[in-house]
Amino acid sequence: MSNTHSLQVISSAADFQLLKASWEKSSSYSIGFVPTMGALHEGHIKLVERAYSENDVVVVSIFVNPTQFNNPADLNQYPRTLENDLLLLSKVGPCVVFIPSVSTIYPQNDSFQPINLHGLDSVMEGKFRPGHFQGVVHVVHNLFKLILPNRAYFGKKDFQQLAIIRFMNDYFNFPIEIVACETIREETGLAKSSRNMRLSDAEKEDALVIIETLKFIKKMKALGFSPMEAIEKGVAFFNQGNLQIEYLELVDSDTLLPLSKNWSTHTTCCIAAYCEQVRLIDNMEV
Ligand code: PAF
Repeated sequence: MSNTHSLQVISSAADFQLLKASWEKSSSYSIGFVPTMGALHEGHIKLVERAYSENDVVVVSIFVNPTQFNNPADLNQYPRTLENDLLLLSKVGPCVVFIPSVSTIYPQNDSFQPINLHGLDSVMEGKFRPGHFQGVVHVVHNLFKLILPNRAYFGKKDFQQLAIIRFMNDYFNFPIEIVACETIREETGLAKSSRNMRLSDAEKEDALVIIETLKFIKKMKALGFSPMEAIEKGVAFFNQGNLQIEYLELVDSDTLLPLSKNWSTHTTCCIAAYCEQVRLIDNMEV
C-alpha cells in the first residue's frame, strides 16, 4: 500500500491568504517554509522533514526564478520535474505546495528595491554569476512577504546564498528564523543537487574530485600550510581530474572574505566547477 498524503496545491497569493485564514481559526500555529526551484531530491526532502518536525504547517514553494539565472541556457536547461516533485512531497506529509506564476511573484506594483549586500555578493558565486544574488534576494524577499513563515529552511550546500539570505532577513527585519540544514550527499560523497540529474554515471564519478579536493584542503590545513598554500596545492590536486575549475577559495565563514596568510576561527572552503556543461558547487568547513 502506498503511504501518501494529500497535498494542497495552490498558485495564487489570494488562495494562500484563504488557507492562512482557515489556520488562524485554530488558536496558534506555526508555518515552516521551504522555498525551492523544484527538481526535488533527498536534500530538499530533508528540509521538508525538518520543517514538519518543527512546525504545525509546512509550505513548499516551487518556482524556477528567472531573475537569478544570469545565463539563459542555464534557465532553459534547469530540470522541471513537477509530477515527481509532488509525488516525493506527498510521501512526507500533507503540505501546501505553492506554485506561483512569474506575475504572482513579481506583480506590477512590486515595491522591492535592490539592497546593498556589502560585498557578500561580490565574491565567489557573485563574481561568476553577476546579478544572481540580487535575483535570489528579490525572490526570497517576495516569498517571505507573502508567506510570512515562522521558520524558513535552507541547505548549507548553498553556503553563500545562506549568508546572503540571513543578511536580507535581518535587513528587512522579517520575524523569521532561518534554519540551516546539513548538505545531503550521495554515498560517494557527491553533494545532492538538482543539477546532478544532468550527469551521466561516468560524469558523477568524475565529479567526485570536488569532495576529494575539499577533503584534501582540510588535510593541508592540518599539515600546517597557509590558506594560500593550501589553495595552490588544492588547485593542482583538482586539475588531475576531468573537471574545469571556476574557483576554489578559503573564506571566513561569516564575512566570506578570502583568506591568504592566516586561517580564521571559522573557515569554509568553497568550490565551483564545470563537469562538461553542468556547473556544480560544494563547500566544507575546514
Ligand atoms: O536554492 C534555491 O533553490 C533557490 O536559490 C531559492 C532559494 C529557492 C530561490 O529561488
